[in-house]
Amino acid sequence: MGLPSAGGITLAEMLGILEPLGLHSLEYHSADEIHLLAETMRRAYEDRNRYLGDSDFTNVPVERLLGQGHLDSLRATIDPERATPSEARLAPRPEPSHTTHLSVIDSAGNAVAVTTTINGSFGAAVVVRGAGFLLNNEMDDFTSRPGVPNMYGLVQGEANAIRPGKRMLSAMTPTIVIGPDGRTELITGTPGGPTIPTSVLQVILAQVEHGLGVQQAVAAARIQHQHLPDLLYYEHGGLEPSVVRELERRGHRLSERPGFSGRVQSIYIAPDGVRFGVSDPRGGGKALGY
Ligand code: DON
Repeated sequence: MGLPSAGGITLAEMLGILEPLGLHSLEYHSADEIHLLAETMRRAYEDRNRYLGDSDFTNVPVERLLGQGHLDSLRATIDPERATPSEARLAPRPEPSHTTHLSVIDSAGNAVAVTTTINGSFGAAVVVRGAGFLLNNEMDDFTSRPGVPNMYGLVQGEANAIRPGKRMLSAMTPTIVIGPDGRTELITGTPGGPTIPTSVLQVILAQVEHGLGVQQAVAAARIQHQHLPDLLYYEHGGLEPSVVRELERRGHRLSERPGFSGRVQSIYIAPDGVRFGVSDPRGGGKALGY
């Protein structure tokens, strides 16, 4: 076969990932060992399937794939307790959908929560000539065909059907929480299609009902139910297996998702006025002070 050998690269990559993991200290064919092997194979094959091809036609990045930095970063993504769904590893690659949320507060206490969207990746994929921006594909937020799921799986009704001059529904939920004393307590919001209102709900509840700090509240695993499909989605690893079993016993149909697309950006204002800005660790944002 053509060189460089795909088998050889895959083998070298697997060995490079495994080398510091101390397999000799694990029982041969134990669950611990098989788990590490499987997670290593998954990652090496992901690279093989993505980057390798006949080198007469494809530039195979052998040095990068077998470089220590790459091997270390692949190894760092292995969770010793849980399998990484292969889809979860593929998930971050596609261009994300295009919704952005900003939470802002100025020195006088004026607060702004703003969410803006062009809906799907690159919107309608049409650039306005000379203007340099993309048109959105917000029409998908209408019920284009009753009973047929839109790109976010929402099954909507006649009330949101397309009509001339009508505006489509939006999930966007920029939110400012005001305490009983009139004090601004939380500025928050997120992208994420139909997971937007439910993410905002969960971030608020985690703080108000469960006393979590804003950082933990934003980072915490989320769930999603949007009526149809009749599934209770939960983020990968977000629910204990015993909780999953109990929910199933109660008649829920659960579906684990690799990760939710929400990226909550929150500012919590403590009673003493100290401000805590938090950008969702799922990535893509930043908290800044002035
Ligand atoms: O307004 C809406 O409900 C959708 N256009 C939002 C899409 C969205 O959040 C995509 N981002 N992840």
